[in-house]
Amino acid sequence: MNGGVPLVKNICCIGAGYVGGPTMAVIAAKCPEITINVVDVNQKRVSDWNSEDLANLPIYEPGLSEIIEIARNRNLFFSNEIAKKISEADMVFISVNTPTKTKGLGAGLASDLRWVESCARQVAEFAKERTIVVEKSTLPVRTAQVIKSILDSSTSKIDQDKKIKSFSVLSNPEFLSEGTAIDDLEFPDRVLIGGEDKLAIEALTNIYLNWVPKTKIITTNLWSSELSKLIANAFLAQRVSSINSVSAICEATGADVREVADAVGMDSRIGRNFLNTGPGFGGSCFKKDILNLVYICKYLGLEEVANYWEKVVEINTWQKKRISQKIVQNLFGTVAGKKIALLGYAFKANTNDTRETPAKTIAEDLIEEGAILAIHDPKVDVVNIQNDLGPEYKGIDYYQVNNGVWSYYDVIEEAVKGADAIIILTDWDIYRRINWDKITSLMRYPAWIFDTRLVINKENLNNNNLNLWQLGTTN
Ligand code: UDX
Ligand code: UDX
Repeated sequence: MNGGVPLVKNICCIGAGYVGGPTMAVIAAKCPEITINVVDVNQKRVSDWNSEDLANLPIYEPGLSEIIEIARNRNLFFSNEIAKKISEADMVFISVNTPTKTKGLGAGLASDLRWVESCARQVAEFAKERTIVVEKSTLPVRTAQVIKSILDSSTSKIDQDKKIKSFSVLSNPEFLSEGTAIDDLEFPDRVLIGGEDKLAIEALTNIYLNWVPKTKIITTNLWSSELSKLIANAFLAQRVSSINSVSAICEATGADVREVADAVGMDSRIGRNFLNTGPGFGGSCFKKDILNLVYICKYLGLEEVANYWEKVVEINTWQKKRISQKIVQNLFGTVAGKKIALLGYAFKANTNDTRETPAKTIAEDLIEEGAILAIHDPKVDVVNIQNDLGPEYKGIDYYQVNNGVWSYYDVIEEAVKGADAIIILTDWDIYRRINWDKITSLMRYPAWIFDTRLVINKENLNNNNLNLWQLGTTN
């Protein structure tokens, strides 16, 4: 203790996912004097985090394996000893998933808090004398109240050393973006800490001060912190939907969405970030968080506000649909029996994550139309694609679904060979470097490229027989 501020020596993080894993790895690397235990109910995930071969870590994130190599088994440990590690901790991070509810009250909109609640119950049962509980997961506003009620009504109010337990709840939302998570954690725009207990806030602040300048650490009340995270994601998603709506206007008028984004983005009040058009936003957060915001607004009787934010998700759904339709229309109204190379399945570049990926929706649409999809992605595990598209195995890596078929290729050339069309759905760097003249010579003609990420520089295409459609342009 330092003037009453608890000195954190032992952290337990519940949830070894895309947020918990990288966040704890960076804290461990920056604070070698703190022991960090990341616990998870999923045994396979835990053993993947402990894998000798760093290529087998459950998450692909640039720079992550280097940090794991330094900190793992020094002061960073992965296990499924949830009760034990909670009981040893001064501070517990809750970093479990909070998906949209599929059943019951608020189904389709509200976040499912069952795992957060069960974490709170575990902490209530196993924690020792004084524990700071930190919400890392993105949560609906006022969830801290739920956590606090569970902790305070704990039946076992005495810990194993016969000391009275006490808890403080803080909100410390994560703003990391997949693909740049390590950079975002090492050099955050800001660290946000919400809470009522000043000493607990200071204890958490002291951890971040090991590498984050004080001016970037802001403290607010609990509800502002919880709401800020939802609003940050809503604003980011809104920008993507805004530029995607503009992409359709550009196609209809001859304007070029890149030029419009540059011109508009040079206004310092607007800025150029997050103005890249694409096949729609994916990832585990944007849709879930906006739907949750919509749910909260409806609950509060703010119908107009709910409708406003709901439109952001509607435009996103529409963008994916209109891309599928463009492809079918341009391929003479039918893709049945046609081979289509789908380049990129991850929801964005530099991640193996496929949650809410636009590629799933577009692949499903084309399969429904009877296409033969040849999917390529440099990092996505084929098992995730199987989980999404649902296979009936047809031999030699072919899967029949509805009318269509899909298969998975490691080599771009193999995916493209004999294809009538290529669709680029993820902005992987390797797709920017493709020699298009060479690759397209492998296709069946008339051939099309549908570039939804604007990775192709038209000037480099010398193949006059090729049809190029680029989102938000008249190419
Ligand atoms: C994150 C955030 O924490 C969430 O709030 C955000 O809205 C979505 O992204 P993420 O780390 O991406 O979640 O989720 P995921 O990769 O699914 O990891 C969650 C982990 O928690 C899983 O490994 C799961 O096994 C684990 N878990 C879940 C537990 O250990 N205990 C539980 O009770 C529930
Ligand atoms: C997001 C937030 O950025 C992060 O702060 C939060 O903690 C979690 O959610 P993430 O989902 O990992 O992070 O990725 P992000 O880079 O925000 O991209 C989300 C989606 O928007 C991707 O599908 C991406 O391709 C798309 N996008 C992003 C665009 O289509 N255009 C853009 O200009 C930016």
